[in-house]
Amino acid sequence: MGRKFLNIEENYEYMEKLIAEFPDQLQEALDIGRKAHIKSRKYIHEVLICGMGGSGVGAHFVKDFVSETAQVPILINKDYDIPDFADEHTLVLASSYSGNTEETLAAYTAAKKQNCSIIAISSGGELMADAQAAGFDTISLPAGYPAPRACLGFSLVAQLFALHKSGCVPNFFEEQIIDTLERIKLEQEDMRSKAEQIAQLMVDRLPVMYGANRTDATLLRWRQQLNENAKHLAWHQVFPEMNHNEIVGWKGDYSQLLVVALRHRDDPARHQLRMDLTREVFQHWAGGYMEVYSRGGSFLEKSLYLVHLGDWVSYYLAELKGENPDEVKVIDHLKEQLKKYD
Ligand code: PA5
Repeated sequence: MGRKFLNIEENYEYMEKLIAEFPDQLQEALDIGRKAHIKSRKYIHEVLICGMGGSGVGAHFVKDFVSETAQVPILINKDYDIPDFADEHTLVLASSYSGNTEETLAAYTAAKKQNCSIIAISSGGELMADAQAAGFDTISLPAGYPAPRACLGFSLVAQLFALHKSGCVPNFFEEQIIDTLERIKLEQEDMRSKAEQIAQLMVDRLPVMYGANRTDATLLRWRQQLNENAKHLAWHQVFPEMNHNEIVGWKGDYSQLLVVALRHRDDPARHQLRMDLTREVFQHWAGGYMEVYSRGGSFLEKSLYLVHLGDWVSYYLAELKGENPDEVKVIDHLKEQLKKYD
């Protein structure tokens, strides 16, 4: 935090470095997770993951990655309050990179009041200080990163370890994360050039992104990275839900929109069929249509492959638009303004 920049070139280089180091971050995250002291818990009825923005998106992946093995439901909470049913049988993961995000802090305080079982995941701030003082389990993330969104590897892997060590999921993920980081190291150059081509198509169009239901977390990550790194609006929706509403909206001159379908070759057959059949609607009305396929073995590996590709797309789009991928001044300004109303 508090890093000074001399010129925009430095910002590009810095974000480029952060994205390029994603495989190393996954490796470091594994080391942190393995060493973390998290007690095993009995009688957990549900897990509630609280976190916003770059510290909240990891929960969406975690929920999807553990869907087949979790012993209890995983719920995502992105607000000040937590549900009334949360009690001592609820495991709450409070995830905030800075440790100072007001919604996450308020949810954490509510979880304390409701006597929930708490694990804090943060690089410091009020959250870490309070959780340590209260004797809760914590996972400390490395401090000094200027952008929480560039710490997805840390927060995602920390959440997986927190769930595993507390007894809610088996450890299916370590091997898959190693496969992922090895693949990304090998394929990064190729991914960068693919991403640059995609970014070129997005410069003068708004991306509308689709995928199968299980791709929701990846689509959300692409959207958030395009928003924050490239200062670009985008939206996303999933199949089959879009076939029941949004498809009807595809009528008229939408030449300013670029449809990007994020696909896995083993997406459920009916989802694939729906995407194939809907393709002609997009091709008729949108300004452009493209399909991007994942690579890898496990669902985790395939998803993080697409995540990494999307991070590069947002980086190249920022560069093409002359935007600083590093700054989110409007978020910082809003947080400052809110403080005046504390
Ligand atoms: O990427 C960002 O800077 C934001 O989306 C932040 O992650 C968000 O504002 C929450 O902050 P924190 O991650 O510190 O809890």
